[in-house]
Amino acid sequence: MIKIVEPIFSEEEKEAVIEIIESHQITRGRWTKTFQEEFARFVGVGHCYTVCSGTTALFIALRALGVDKGDRVVVPAMSFMATIDSVYLACGEPVVVDVDEFFTMDLNQLEDAVKRFRPKVVMPVHLYGGMADMEGLMFLAEKYGFYVVEDAAQAHGAELKGKRAGAWGHIGAFSFYASKNVPMGEGGALTTDDPDIAKKIESWIDFGDHPAFNVRITEFQAAIGTIQLRKLKERNERRREIASRYTSAFSEDFTTPLEREDSLHVYHLYTLMHPERDRLIEELKGSGIDARVYYNYLLHELRNSEHLPTPNAERFRKEVFSIPVHPYLKEEEVELIIGALLRAVSSGKII
Ligand SMILES: Cc1ncc(COP(=O)(O)O)c(C=O)c1O
Repeated sequence: MIKIVEPIFSEEEKEAVIEIIESHQITRGRWTKTFQEEFARFVGVGHCYTVCSGTTALFIALRALGVDKGDRVVVPAMSFMATIDSVYLACGEPVVVDVDEFFTMDLNQLEDAVKRFRPKVVMPVHLYGGMADMEGLMFLAEKYGFYVVEDAAQAHGAELKGKRAGAWGHIGAFSFYASKNVPMGEGGALTTDDPDIAKKIESWIDFGDHPAFNVRITEFQAAIGTIQLRKLKERNERRREIASRYTSAFSEDFTTPLEREDSLHVYHLYTLMHPERDRLIEELKGSGIDARVYYNYLLHELRNSEHLPTPNAERFRKEVFSIPVHPYLKEEEVELIIGALLRAVSSGKII
């Protein structure tokens, strides 16, 4: 079976893990420091803090910006459930808005939501590796006075107008879960360029002046993350290359993913749309190709949350499916996927 995602490690990661075991410094060591420094530099911000998951990163981001009982936080309808769950965990009240044709937060609707609910924080998601309209969003943040937390869990290295995901908002939150573009197994990070916000984040990630969790990662995770990060640019390029082949092959029969102008999409997932998606997924599976729906729920339906009308998300949810785009796909596997999907779609056509 060609897997939808597949982290691959080399001798380098193995050697680092053995070196850590032999050094006896298995937590709070040089790899954690190195990862934080290199990731901050990579994103283009002054501060990076590693934590044990992306969900934890989102939770701490919200608390660090002062979200407390009843504070409103706007999130898009399409994302992984951790996006909205982090709001509830931080005692906030989510407001869900629709997505645009790029699968990211619809800014027209956001403005309506902001006028009506006066949120403390807005949390765009760079879904599937494509950037939300951060320029427009930061303009609205300035105009209405709210904070922005970027959920960049799927967007390591994505760019808009030359600025990377995690460097646009007040805080960026990342995940290094096994399937992500930078995998550690488990892990997360917060990025910020604001020294005052950095101090607030610090108070949440180690025992301090108010109750906080231990959210540290081990040296093993940091070492694997650092080595993977150093390969990220090249691997994102390979993802983009495969995506571009898919888009040329599929654009006639499918709605293929769009790239925002002056942006770099990093194709954490390659997500297409087709009304017969369930049949197509079954046929791909029959050909030994994993294909999946990300996600088969909308966030406000999942958690019964306040929301604005979400016609785009409701339509997309019924048609989206993702096919393997990971950088370890061999040429013949890319060809196989293209052939299998084109055959599957043409077998359903009425001649
Ligand atoms: C968009 C999004 N937000 C948040 C998360 C949560 O990250 P984690 O699984 O590391 O807690 C994930 C991934 O799992 C994600 O895809």
